[in-house]
Amino acid sequence: MPDTMNIRRISAACGAEVSGIDLTRAPSPGQVDVLQRALGENGILLFRDVGLTPEQHIAFSRNFGPLEAHVIGDFALPGHPEIFVVSNVKEDGKLKGAVYAGQYWHSDLSYMQKPSMGSLLLCHEMPEIGGDTMFANMFMAYETLSEPMKRFIGGLSAVHDYSHAYDTYFAHLKERPPLTAEARARTPPVEHPMVRAHPVTGRKALYVNPGFTKGIVGMPPEESRPILDLLFRHSVRPEFIYRHKWRVNDMIFWDNRSVTHYALADYDFSVRRHMHRTTIAGEATH
Ligand code: OGA
Ligand code: MN
Repeated sequence: MPDTMNIRRISAACGAEVSGIDLTRAPSPGQVDVLQRALGENGILLFRDVGLTPEQHIAFSRNFGPLEAHVIGDFALPGHPEIFVVSNVKEDGKLKGAVYAGQYWHSDLSYMQKPSMGSLLLCHEMPEIGGDTMFANMFMAYETLSEPMKRFIGGLSAVHDYSHAYDTYFAHLKERPPLTAEARARTPPVEHPMVRAHPVTGRKALYVNPGFTKGIVGMPPEESRPILDLLFRHSVRPEFIYRHKWRVNDMIFWDNRSVTHYALADYDFSVRRHMHRTTIAGEATH
């Protein structure tokens, strides 16, 4: 295929569609640079009709950095620890991946000391109706705060903890039992600045999310809770959101440093929804 990569914005909030690149072949260093910049500027990149095998999905993802294996090994594709399976599909009575994953606003792996830089989610099976994913632009969320609020949170760090999701969103779901002692030991609470400058553009993004952010460093809950609730509410104003209706073989590469995402649970759970995700390692935040 000739080198005619095209990048076109798909919403006012965030996102661009990339066409004219064959993801089954190794991209040139120039193409990788263009994609990295486009990701930094647009927050999410959509590729249509990709049809990648797990090996090809992994190989393409590796152009953007080393890959992470999820802390819960049961969610991996057998033989491919780099692929995190998001699925409601059962085989022989056993779920094939993480069920109810991401049905709350979050940024992948913000609960790690080095959170993920980006994730590439590939749609294999999708209900006809429902099962969209929403993405919220955290640059816009930060920029639309008042100057006093920007100054205030600019000096603060927040506590992120994977078990927060299990204590809240997953608390009543038998398919998502509490973390094992081993998983817990690998995910102690961590601290990240509440505002992060993006390495590609220098633009500042709000970096808190209701899925994993459970407090503000140095504050008791009665102070931090209302501040976090205000920021969570503000950060998902409709004009910051791109909502994606999946087609089979769509792949979205999102930037965990500048967008949060939310999987809608509005579909018939007897219909298969099956996705593969690779997760690119990121840098320490301070
Ligand atoms: C994820 C996730 C969203 C979805 O894979 O990180 O949050 O729509 N999934 O399945
Ligand atoms: Mn996610």
